[in-house]
This record gives sequence, structure tokens and C-alpha cells, in this order.
Amino acid sequence: MDEVPEPGVELGSVVVETLAVGVCGTDVEIAAGLYGWAPPGRERLILGHESLGRVVDPGPSGFAVGEHVVGIVRRPDPVPCPNCAVGEWDMCSNGGYTERGIKQVDGFMADRWRIEPEYAVKVDESLGVLGVLLEPTTVVAKAWEHIAAIGRRSFWEPSTVLVVGAGPIGLLAALIGVQYGGDVHVLDRVTSGRKPALVEALGATYHTGPVSELGLRPDVVVECTGVTQLVRDVADAAAPGGIVCLTGVGPPEAPGAGSSASLASDAVLKNLVVFGSVNANRRHYYRAAQVLSRADRSWLEQLITRRVEPEALDDALEREPDDIKVVVEFAKP
Ligand code: BGC
Repeated sequence: MDEVPEPGVELGSVVVETLAVGVCGTDVEIAAGLYGWAPPGRERLILGHESLGRVVDPGPSGFAVGEHVVGIVRRPDPVPCPNCAVGEWDMCSNGGYTERGIKQVDGFMADRWRIEPEYAVKVDESLGVLGVLLEPTTVVAKAWEHIAAIGRRSFWEPSTVLVVGAGPIGLLAALIGVQYGGDVHVLDRVTSGRKPALVEALGATYHTGPVSELGLRPDVVVECTGVTQLVRDVADAAAPGGIVCLTGVGPPEAPGAGSSASLASDAVLKNLVVFGSVNANRRHYYRAAQVLSRADRSWLEQLITRRVEPEALDDALEREPDDIKVVVEFAKP
């Protein structure tokens, strides 16, 4: 926690008052010095990429004072690569992109931030603090878009969806799976607490225990833990023609851990696609807003399990066993 100057105009013409900022595993890693990059020539980075704010000075943007906005996280690389050139910076092919609060540009965890009008997304004010869930929802909206795109490679009628990990990303992935009409199953380690009830409230099925004992042949797997053994296990369980989407970066694997003996045979003999997905572009922010607006508000409210004041940021970065989404609250929406 530090005093910082007002955000510089180089960050954009729209001035925003922070309402809330979500905390995720990426923030915990950055705070621990394991990930993240300070702006060039600086030693520190303002954290925070899951934003929600209120416009205080729209400049020439067309936004109105008081409107709620969320900042897009990634900016295209300056070259730009072909993907960034067409606005698909989430698919940046040279790694030269930057990310607010993560990679070389200050984030949103300050009383005020600035943003370029074209990277601010208006959110429904009636969502209140739930608007802070937009950014994590974009990450899964993109993942689902790519699953659908890959599915078009063949005649494919997916029905069974397995989500591994019932954190915020897993639960939001399950929400989208249910909205798509899938028979959604969620696997997590915990046997009690909020997660089982949240999954059941979606109309999905909650499981614990080994993947091999679930008795499922999922057509789609959204893996949100990044645990290598689980990736192997879900590839094994997936139905022929299945699609396994990896969204989580797990702990480093111990040498010789797990076995890769049958990954190639699984993938080849079952026509599997195992792919990774990160970040989101503007289209996914639009999709994510649709997902949130169709969701049950009281269900979304239960995803925010802790709200802390900025002074208690250290507590926000400490994970408690039953946490789902922890939010740093700067001002009342
Ligand atoms: C953010 C993404 C970002 C990724 C990698 C995630 O926590 O939600 O926007 O691209 O980290 O830096």
C-alpha cells in the first residue's frame, strides 16, 4: 500500500473512480514476485486487473459521468502482429503485448485510474459490485468461444461438460456450460462449504474424487487447476472427438511426475483436441456481459465471498479455504 501520483494522461483520456477490484491467483503470484512486470524503468507496478469503476471525467469519450465501466486488460503489441492488428490481442503472436496490472502497465488497484475510451467497457449499473466479475467472465467466454470454434471441425453434438476446479473461473465456466444447455459436472477437492451448493444451484452436478471414478465421458472439459495429473486424467476420460480446454496455470511439475505414456494415444486415437486459452478481446467482454445479465443475480452474489478495504489488501491476497472471489472495495457502487 503506497501513495501514488494521479494516473498520467498517457494512460487515457477517461478518468475513473475505482469501485472494486477483484483478486485472483495471478495477483497472488505477482505479489509473491513469481509473475508480472513493472513498467519500464520502474520497480513497482500498481496491481489489479479485475476492475469496476465509475466515470468521473469522460473527456471526449462519449461516456457519461457516473457510468460504470470495466477496463480491458490487454493492449496490442506495438509492431503489431497480425492478431493484434485486427483487435485479437488475446492471441498476440509475438509476446509484445502489455497488460494492465500484470505486464508493464499500471493496473486498477488505486482510487483513480485512466483509460483509453476504446478499452473501457460500459457495464450495467444495476449489477452493482457484481460488475467486477466481468473480467474473469471474459476469460471463460473466450475459452467457450474457442471450444465452439474447434467443435466445428467435425459433426459434433456435445452434451456432457466436465469442469475441473470450482474456483471463480470454474464456476463461471460451469455457468456458461449450463447457459449453453450442457449436462454440466464440476469436480473439486472440497466436500463441504459453498462450492457444492453453488454448483447444484446452477442445475449442474458436483463431484469430488478421482476423475477415473466419475463414470463420465465428457465431450468438453474445461480444466481450471493446471495440475498436470488432472490434465492427463481428463484426457483419458474425454469422449472420442472431445475437446479439453486448459485455462489454469498450475504448480510446476516435479521431474518425472505423472506419466505421459498414453497422452499421444489418447489424443490420436480419440481425435482429441487439448488446447490452452488465455485473456480476452473486446468481443469476449461483450459476450461476458451477456452471460452476467442472463445469470441469476443471487447466484452471482454468492461468488463474492469476501470484501476487504484497500488497507487490508494483504488479507485479500491470503486465500482462505472457502474463498471464491475476494474483492477489494474502494467505494460503494
Ligand atoms: C488475466 C488475463 C491475463 C492472464 C495472464 C489472468 O489472470 O485474467 O487477462 O491475460 O492472467 O497474464
